[in-house]
This record gives sequence, C-alpha cells and structure tokens, in this order.
Amino acid sequence: MARGSWFFITLSIISLLANMINSLKLDRHSFPDDFIFGTAASAFQYEGATNEGGKSPTIWDHFSRTYPERTKMHNADVAIDFYHRYKDDIKLMKELNMDAFRFSISWSRLIPSGKLKDGVNKEGVKFYKDLIDELLANDIQPSMTLYHWDHPQSLEDEYGGFLSPKIVEDFRDFARICFEEFGDKVKMWTTINEPYIMTVAGYDQGNKAAGRCSKWVNEKCQAGDSSTEPYIVSHHTLLAHAAAVEEFRKCKKTSHDGQIGIVLSPRWFEPYHSDSIDDKEAAERALAFEIGWHLDPVIHGDYPEVVKKYAGNKLPSFTAEESKMLRNSSDFVGINYYTARFAAHLHHIDPEKPRFKTDHHVEWKLTNHSGHIIGPGEERGFLFSHPEGLRKVLNYIKEKYNNMPVYIKENGINDNDDGTKAREEIVKDTFRIEYHKTHFEELHKAIVLVLDLFLV
Ligand SMILES: *[C@@H]1O[C@H](CO)[C@@H](O)[C@H](O)[C@H]1NC(C)=O
Ligand SMILES: *[C@@H]1O[C@H](CO)[C@@H](O)[C@H](O)[C@H]1NC(C)=O
Repeated sequence: MARGSWFFITLSIISLLANMINSLKLDRHSFPDDFIFGTAASAFQYEGATNEGGKSPTIWDHFSRTYPERTKMHNADVAIDFYHRYKDDIKLMKELNMDAFRFSISWSRLIPSGKLKDGVNKEGVKFYKDLIDELLANDIQPSMTLYHWDHPQSLEDEYGGFLSPKIVEDFRDFARICFEEFGDKVKMWTTINEPYIMTVAGYDQGNKAAGRCSKWVNEKCQAGDSSTEPYIVSHHTLLAHAAAVEEFRKCKKTSHDGQIGIVLSPRWFEPYHSDSIDDKEAAERALAFEIGWHLDPVIHGDYPEVVKKYAGNKLPSFTAEESKMLRNSSDFVGINYYTARFAAHLHHIDPEKPRFKTDHHVEWKLTNHSGHIIGPGEERGFLFSHPEGLRKVLNYIKEKYNNMPVYIKENGINDNDDGTKAREEIVKDTFRIEYHKTHFEELHKAIVLVLDLFLV
C-alpha cells in the first residue's frame, strides 16, 4: 500500500531522471517515512471456516458449491485456514516487516441473515476483534474492507442482492455495526472493493458470483442480462457506498480520525495503433469506464459524460438527494493495479448481441498493431506485467481528480508457471520478484521527481 498522492506527478524532465533512477538500488528508505507497506487479503479467499462460528453462506459459497466447474476451486471451506491460524500468519507479516494488513469482513459472519433486525453474531464480532488486537499487538495497522463481493446468500435469494435498491439500507446497517464495533481501533476503511470487477465479472461475463449473464455470452449462466444488469448493480453499489460513508461520518468512533474510501481496479490502456486518433480515444474511453464510472460519482456526485453517452438509457440516474449523498464521499482513491492492455476502437457491434463489455466500443488487445506484446505474462492467466501503467494510472488520477490522496491497495502477480516447471525453479519466484521490482521502480520515479522539484 502506498500512501499520499502528493508525490505523484508527471513532467517531461522525468526522462532525464529515468536513467539515474533505474540505476538506484531501491530499499525501504527510498520511500518517504510515512509510506505504508502492507499485505492484503479478502475473507472468502483466506478465512475458510465457512460453516463455523455462526457464519451463514455467502453468494460465493453458493456459487462455488453449486457450480464448481465455473470456478477454479470447488469451495473455500478451508482456503488458507486463516480463521484458525491467523496468529501464525500475523507472525509471518511481522517477519516481513509489514506496516499494515488489509482484510475484509464477511458480512455473513457478522450478521448471518444479512439483516440487522435478526441480530449480530457475537462469535463473528469476537473473531474480528481478536484479529484486530493481534495485529495491533504486532504493530501492524488494520485496514478493513466492508465489502469484498461476499454478501449473505439470503439477501440474494430474497431480493437479488445488489440488483435491488433494498441492499442499500441493509448495507448501511452492516457498515454502522462495523464502525461501532471496530472503529475505535481501525482507522483505515474501504467500503467496496473493485465495483468494476464485481459488476462486470458477476453480471456481464457471469464467471464470478453472482454468476449472471445473457445466455449468448455464457451458456452456463442460469439467468441475467449482460446489457443492463452491470449498470444497475453498479448503481446500487455506489449508493451503498454513500450510505456507509454517511454512517462513518456520523459515528463518534470513526468520524474524527478515520479515513474511508472506495477501491478501484484500473487497468492501464495504450492505443492499439499509436498514430490512430480512434484508438487513442478508445484508450481514453476504456479508462473512463474503468475509473470514472465509479470514481466520478463518489467525487462529483454523477457519472462522467462519456459513460452517459455510451451507456445511453441503460445507465440509471441519481436523484438530487442521492447525488448530494455521493459527492465527496471518498476520503481517498484506493487502487488495485495489476495489468494493462491495448485498446482498439471497435467499429461494429452486433445489435442482436448487446452487452456492457462492448457498449463503449473498445476492443482489448494483448499486442499492438505491430505485434508488440503489452508485457510478460502469466502462462495461463490474464495478468501481464506493464509497470509503467502503474505510474500512468496514478498520474491520471492526480491530474483528473485534483490530486486526491491515493492508496495502492493491491498489486502483484502469480509466478509464470505452465505446470511443467520443477519445484526448485518455481520456488525461486523470479517472475514475481521482477514484477514487484519494476513496479516499485515506477512508483519511485514519481517520488524522486517531486523531491527533486522541491530542491529546485
Ligand atoms: C507498438 O509498440 C511498440 C513498443 O512500444 C512501438 O514501438 C510501436 O510503435 C507500436 N506500434 C504501433 C502501431 O503503435
Ligand atoms: C469532504 O468531506 C470531508 C470529510 O467530511 C470534509 O472534511 C471536507 O470539507 C469535504 N469537502 C468538500 C469539498 O465538501
């Protein structure tokens, strides 16, 4: 996690410094004293104990158990067993000299029915309090995410989860309980993690929970509409975010010294053909959908014009009151940066096959027009290393959103393994090490540049 947007800046003299910086050997002291290094995880991915401690099933439990062939695992009943082994894991974080740990709360563990009126699960509260205390005892700052895609299945069954505006008030109640229970010790908060991925993977592609999409997109989807639902789900997600922030700012435990914000998942885009105006505009549009779709509302209270134009009447609108509630509702912008793509202008869209993914007339490509690949990638994955994209995303946000504070909340990659490598090779982790090194270098370029400016 990186702290503070003040050091991100682009100027042409960066190239003058680039060589000098590349030859620097980076270590912790290359970054400002208040720069926070941390690790991150999410409840469903690491807690396990899905049926223990009074927890009810989440939409991810339901999705992975009902359609094991649609996920890469069959369920997360054990995962990495963090629920039972968190003390050992925190020891490892301590050994790594980490400053912070970002984790998410399982709504189903805290409020099993999803509705406050049915009661709060004391065992769930105790688990998170113990976890927070263990972190603090090890000098590791807790950073809590309210929603990392795993609401109670009961809310999905009752009203369709985020497809319904009813989710907003249930989420508000859940958030308020979290602030009241944990807000005295937790000062860094995330409302929603990656609304774009949750919405597009869950409702356009149908390959993540809730697993909905149009039949022609993915025949495994039982129901859904890839053309309309992503916009509806995102709309309610944004309103849920705003409701949570309202509670945060009212709560005595969090209001004076806590920070809360939304966390986005921008990929960077370069034009498919660097001389094509169409492709340059396509790259700009792709960024507006990746970033502005969810960031403009929480800063300015409305969707960006380009999203309105390309989504047309499928995009719901905010009432004046909702817009007011959304405006200035993120103290910072959280960024999960992993990868980049080339963007090509997509001229023709089959009117018989409408879907979110093509509404903005952009086709994603791994190589550009002259066959140049965006970066080295996971053998069978979708992450391709493009470290300049991290610096460019940060500068894009700095310039477009008035130098808001930025936290990098996630960054990383799996080792490049096609399944044939020997164990001795894999444990060297060379691909991952190179990935982190080059991303830190890009981040550092921006910092050094500003320090230099101050000297001038
Ligand atoms: C493709 O990318 C390479 C490397 O950045 C660049 O030199 C080349 O001009 C690009 N080709 C086009 C057609 O944009
Ligand atoms: C935004 O909200 C914060 C936190 O409540 C407040 O300190 C700040 O003055 C607000 N800014 C604007 C422009 O309303």
